[in-house]
Amino acid sequence: MVTQEQVKEKLESVLVPSVMRSLVKMNLVREINIEDGKVDITLGSATMTPDVQEWLKKKIEEDTKLDDVDTVNVSFTDGLPKDFNEIGNVIAVMSGKGGVGKSLVASLAAVSLQRQGYEVGILDADITGPSIPRMFGINTRPVGSESGILPVSSRSGVEVMSMNLLLGAESDAVIWRGPLIGKAITQFWEEVLWGKLDYLVVDLPPGTADAPLTVLQTLPVSGIIIVSTPQDLTSMVVKKAVNMARQMSKPIIGVVENMSYLYVSEIDKKLEIFGKSRGQEMAADAGVPLLANLPVDPELAKLCDEGKVELYNTDVLAGFEDSLSQAVKVLP
Ligand SMILES: Nc1ncnc2c1ncn2[C@@H]1O[C@H](COP(=O)(O)OP(=O)(O)O)[C@@H](O)[C@H]1O
Ligand SMILES: [Mg+2]
Repeated sequence: MVTQEQVKEKLESVLVPSVMRSLVKMNLVREINIEDGKVDITLGSATMTPDVQEWLKKKIEEDTKLDDVDTVNVSFTDGLPKDFNEIGNVIAVMSGKGGVGKSLVASLAAVSLQRQGYEVGILDADITGPSIPRMFGINTRPVGSESGILPVSSRSGVEVMSMNLLLGAESDAVIWRGPLIGKAITQFWEEVLWGKLDYLVVDLPPGTADAPLTVLQTLPVSGIIIVSTPQDLTSMVVKKAVNMARQMSKPIIGVVENMSYLYVSEIDKKLEIFGKSRGQEMAADAGVPLLANLPVDPELAKLCDEGKVELYNTDVLAGFEDSLSQAVKVLP
């Protein structure tokens, strides 16, 4: 007798056309019924056009004709992407101000978690300054149907959704007002089929004003990473971010100090070009771990510009990966 497991295994290898992610990872397999050699499979139809549904139906009916199976019947059930999304933890990356490398840290956090074998997505919630697709070298338009859209997979399989991907050209400026920004975030949450993810990293808008607040109120964030630089002359900016997180009852899982130093190999020295590192002190003040002191690294800047942030591989990043994997253990 054919078992549910055998059918599921077959379904795991069915990749949805144009996104090349499996139905199982997209969490679209709703039901598998087996009775007297008859296999009935129910799939969620979210984001699938009639053409794609037809293709999947044929493909599955062929693929699952295992030895003792007489007939395979595939049917679809409606629902919005949010009905099928199963996201373990949402981690938001926040900074006191813009230009401190928040998007970079969000990208590196996603890459680190992905390298540890987790299913990871990035929601670029910085609607007016979206920069995640650029760092990952993604310029493919998302596909979908009236019921919702699919994120775009990066080279290494991080699922990405950003305003940038929905605009015509990458340089189109988005001039949206507050309420609309809030709406986009809701749509990125409810109408994007993230499927099954262990972690969804959210790149918040910069600062501690309305925009990041809206996102924190809209999404079920379970932990926050705060990004600072030695340039944050007083630790006020970071304290503000910490206070905001506290007011929202969102746990901070750690602080990342970016642009901590420049390493000059000729003299084998770390130069604190933006001032004395204060990451440790700030993390201690907030009572949370310091996840990393990231250097100013021209190689990293180059990789970001070339859309190859996933290729970054240094001891410092390995250290970040370790401390992040420890820090996320406090999450539910
Ligand atoms: N540690 C770093 N080393 C080299 N370049 C960096 C570093 N941090 C940020 N950058 C560069 O600075 C720019 C701004 O970073 P970004 O993450 O987009 O900032 P934010 O999201 O805070 O505005 C990026 O193009 C990135 O390449
Ligand atoms: Mg940014």
